[in-house]
Amino acid sequence: MKLEISGLDFSYGGREVLRQLNLQVEEGEFVSILGASGCGKSTILKLLTGVLSPAAGTISVDGEKVQGMTGHFAYMPQNDLLFPWKTILDNVCLYGRIHGTAEEARREAMENMAAFGLSGYEKSYPSALSGGMRQRAAFLRTALCKSDILLLDEPFGALDVITRGEMQDWLLSMRRKMNRTVVLVTHDMDEAIYLSDRILILGGHPSRVVSQLIPPAPPEGRSRDWLYGQGDLRRRIHREIMGEESEET
Ligand SMILES: Nc1ncnc2c1ncn2[C@@H]1O[C@H](COP(=O)(O)OP(=O)(O)OP(=O)(O)O)[C@@H](O)[C@H]1O
Ligand SMILES: [Mg+2]
Repeated sequence: MKLEISGLDFSYGGREVLRQLNLQVEEGEFVSILGASGCGKSTILKLLTGVLSPAAGTISVDGEKVQGMTGHFAYMPQNDLLFPWKTILDNVCLYGRIHGTAEEARREAMENMAAFGLSGYEKSYPSALSGGMRQRAAFLRTALCKSDILLLDEPFGALDVITRGEMQDWLLSMRRKMNRTVVLVTHDMDEAIYLSDRILILGGHPSRVVSQLIPPAPPEGRSRDWLYGQGDLRRRIHREIMGEESEET
């Protein structure tokens, strides 16, 4: 198992957010964590990266327990993203330098600019880019980390619905090329259905994984038309998130 969380408890002060959280992600798998706002999704990613420490429970990568900050995770946080005073190229190379020389990081970044739709903007500053381009630059920075597990916290949450759709199409196509283990946090159920091998629903008070769903993988690949036909799955997810018992399943 690539990533395994078991029996994780976490509280902010006296406020219990996660209790006995268990989840597993296989090598190369794309797993989404879906849940209502405030249920603790970002907290899970912060526990994985070591920004926060759990009160109880363990996190293992490749069967070995990890604690605190490790090199296993490339993390794209929910907000922030780019430094306004650095050029796009410098922003993109920010973490690359952790894993190699500055020249290596720049060369690799330049090689990937076109695939990420950023050619010609290397020397621009973030203020000159559209929201979608800024998100792609932040995503490229995360993807260039040599870490084997990508943690994406609502990477497209701040975008308008059309740009978000474009970015999801783009991520779906990148997914095949990247071949990385990905944990995506989102509250957008279409995004989760469209992109994931497996969807984990977070619920309860405090939160834990209440169910998991496996969206179908049509032989011709997923498409927007395919997504529009996933009404039953959406209904099921909605019921699970709302904590309603489903009688048909
Ligand atoms: N630094 C903090 N101090 C105290 N409470 C916090 C802190 N950060 C988050 N919380 C609380 O912990 C709970 C979980 O927060 P978290 O950010 O993980 O939720 P989320 O599922 O990511 O929500 P969203 O979908 O809105 O991003 C929320 O109730 C939030 O108010
Ligand atoms: Mg969040």
